[in-house]
Amino acid sequence: MKNSASETDEIICQCYQVSEATIRSCIASKKLKTIEEVTEACEAGGGCHSCHILIDLFIDEHLRKSTPMENLVHAHADKVKKRGILGRFFKKFKPDAPVTK
Ligand code: FES
Repeated sequence: MKNSASETDEIICQCYQVSEATIRSCIASKKLKTIEEVTEACEAGGGCHSCHILIDLFIDEHLRKSTPMENLVHAHADKVKKRGILGRFFKKFKPDAPVTK
């Protein structure tokens, strides 16, 4: 048996408690093409940025671009490294640095 929309609609943006249905509805009805536009429309993505990869996926699916998930993950990782909280830790990580004992 298929679940009803309310049973499968999950909170995607934990910071602002915005569900998948709300985000997808905003993208479709307002023809949104960027995370910033989605944030302005329904607040999703306006906090920690953890949900950005899923918002990107929803935009991509709406636009029927079929970007490989790997590309979305890499783009998201690059953004996180540059401006997210993890960037603080990535800056410390230097793969070629000698191991100290
Ligand atoms: S989970 Fe969406 S901004 Fe934090």
